[in-house]
Amino acid sequence: MKKFKLGIIGMGNMASAIAGGVINSFFLKNEDICFYEKDARKAQRASLSFKIESLSDIKEVFLSSKFVLLAFKPQNLKDNSKLLSKYFDTDKNILLSILAGIPIKYFEELISKEAKILRIMPNAPVLISKGVSAISFNSTTGNPEKDFVTKMFGCIGKTVIIDEKFQNLVIALSGSSPAYFYLICKYMVEFAIKKGIDREIAKELVAGSIIGSGEMIYNIGDDFDEMINKVASKGGTTEKAIESFKKNNLQKIIADAMDVTLKRAYEMEESINKNF
Ligand SMILES: NC(=O)c1ccc[n+]([C@@H]2O[C@H](COP(=O)([O-])OP(=O)(O)OC[C@H]3O[C@@H](n4cnc5c(N)ncnc54)[C@H](OP(=O)(O)O)[C@@H]3O)[C@@H](O)[C@H]2O)c1
Repeated sequence: MKKFKLGIIGMGNMASAIAGGVINSFFLKNEDICFYEKDARKAQRASLSFKIESLSDIKEVFLSSKFVLLAFKPQNLKDNSKLLSKYFDTDKNILLSILAGIPIKYFEELISKEAKILRIMPNAPVLISKGVSAISFNSTTGNPEKDFVTKMFGCIGKTVIIDEKFQNLVIALSGSSPAYFYLICKYMVEFAIKKGIDREIAKELVAGSIIGSGEMIYNIGDDFDEMINKVASKGGTTEKAIESFKKNNLQKIIADAMDVTLKRAYEMEESINKNF
């Protein structure tokens, strides 16, 4: 039987972004990757576009791959848990899961505490290789596996290693936050359109600002007040905007939104895990 470094189960949006990213970054070769996707049309599309091997069932993925990435929806886990516990070989396989809300403990109970298991939470911009992924792992996982997974997800953006207890907070910080930024951009563009500017130009200006500001946070640092002061000179225009944000208690608006996001993440985790 042919051997693969990475086997993917469920070849949807996320898995396609990951496969494309690792191949385009030359981290893995096409022949290092196999997958099983239950939707035959999607399977054919993926094997043609990425030139990776499509296998006929989950069992084959476990038998032929070292790292096995679960990339289907969490609600499909129940149907697959028997196959997972039957075919996962603790001595040969390493389990990677991007299933939102499924804790490492669930897999340890299903397979074994001896199994090497990594839980990763990517966000939507990984679809264009500009995302950020938070990686957690159990105590059995060693440095070579951590290194592999960090490099693998590094092909589709930035990575951070976090204690698993913060995975729900990650949803509020990076999982949901692209939508917070889209909403802010929408309000800015709508304001500008009302003032008469062309939508495309407004979009270009707002998107350019958000990209540049994000890059500056990465490149310069996280002293946000200092960065704000560099833009907001005394008596100038930006100072007026900052004053208005503070007067309207933007901090509370953001804290409230993140708080309800966090609560919902815990509720969803609880309801997913209750169904197993
Ligand atoms: N999208 C995001 O922004 C995001 C962010 C973080 C984490 N995630 C996680 O990433 C995972 C995948 O999300 P996605 O958006 O890529 O989903 P998706 O596009 O729906 O992809 C999942 C694919 O897996 C297939 N599938 C289901 N059960 C299968 C099985 N037993 N064997 C093989 N294939 C199977 C599905 O086929 P059918 O359509 O026929 O069921 C579908 O093609 C989810 O667990 C999600 O929680 C997503």
